[in-house]
Amino acid sequence: MPDNILNRIDPNKSYPSFKAKEPFTAKVISNTRLVAKDCEDDIRHVVFSLENSGFRHVNGQSIGIIATGEDDKGRAYKQRIYSVASSALGDDGERKTLSLCVKRADTIGEDGVLYKGVCSNYICDLKEGDEVLCTGALGRALMLPVDEETKLILLATGTGIAPMRAFINHIYNDAKSWKGGVDFYFGGKRADEALYMNEVNSEISNHNNPNIKMNTYFAFSREMTNASGQKMYIQNKVGENIEQLWEDLKKGNFSLYICGLKGIEEGLDEVISAYASTQGADWMEMKKEFKKQKRWNVEVY
Ligand code: FAD
Ligand code: A2P
Repeated sequence: MPDNILNRIDPNKSYPSFKAKEPFTAKVISNTRLVAKDCEDDIRHVVFSLENSGFRHVNGQSIGIIATGEDDKGRAYKQRIYSVASSALGDDGERKTLSLCVKRADTIGEDGVLYKGVCSNYICDLKEGDEVLCTGALGRALMLPVDEETKLILLATGTGIAPMRAFINHIYNDAKSWKGGVDFYFGGKRADEALYMNEVNSEISNHNNPNIKMNTYFAFSREMTNASGQKMYIQNKVGENIEQLWEDLKKGNFSLYICGLKGIEEGLDEVISAYASTQGADWMEMKKEFKKQKRWNVEVY
């Protein structure tokens, strides 16, 4: 396989690894909002130049970002981790850039005070030309399979779409040869927060290659209800297509990825377990085996 479509860790190769004590520097090329002005959340697509950094990663990995400044005890901020939202070749297709998809993590505490997330605010406020200290590449939980006939089943909520965008861009823009097809589930609050699939940025919806079959399913919790009249969550959408999923699980040549909110996996287990028991199968036993085979891949935060 040519190196320029390398999409998984090759155990025979060594990869650069930048630690917090010796980080690499990435320079901001652009920082754009991914949702409409009136959306309650601020979620941004930030593109960095990797030129002269020496950094390399494979699809599905993350990086660390070290915000400038210090905490109230005078200590330098610790790094926070962000999934790389671009494919290994970058949004430029030449491996010279890296993109992140970051949500400004502000919370109103129980005391009524607005707490601003340190690193997410730092990233969301970056301007073109700013230089940022980064670590990585980090993580091996979400690696693409070698066999391009594998069916990819992608499940993301919110910014959990980042590694999925990397995979989808790899398939459509870089390798262009995925034969297994893709089922892509996205969960968010409202349709206007469907990242990269809304009126502000629709690049995932716009991918078009007649040889790649991608089905997209949305669960918008504040706009849709499930069969029980409750919020439509991503696992409920999977439940609507459970027969298809079951068929894929039985066939065995699939690779499933979960990224986003903690709690998605539990919800998904409930839905699949319920169906498995109607088929006389024990889902948790099946899942154990799928995990061993690296077909069941989870990164939640
Ligand atoms: P922090 O300063 O660490 O605060 C954390 C949260 O606590 C904030 O919401 C803040 O408002 C709240 N808070 C702080 N103090 C209080 C208080 N006293 N009372 C109540 N609330 C308080 N995030 C993304 O946006 N995109 C990604 O692609 C992404 N990928 C990730 C991948 C991995 C593997 C992991 C582990 C995490 C990922 N994250 C991602 C999450 C990211 O690492 C950060 O956790 C997130 O951005 C919040 O960091 P922060 O520094 O902004 O907030
Ligand atoms: P809600 O907040 O309406 O309860 P975002 O990161 O943009 O907030 O999106 C997260 C999405 O995941 C929201 O639609 C949120 O719904 C939904 N969600 C919250 N809890 C769960 C859960 N346990 N399982 C699946 N989805 C969830």
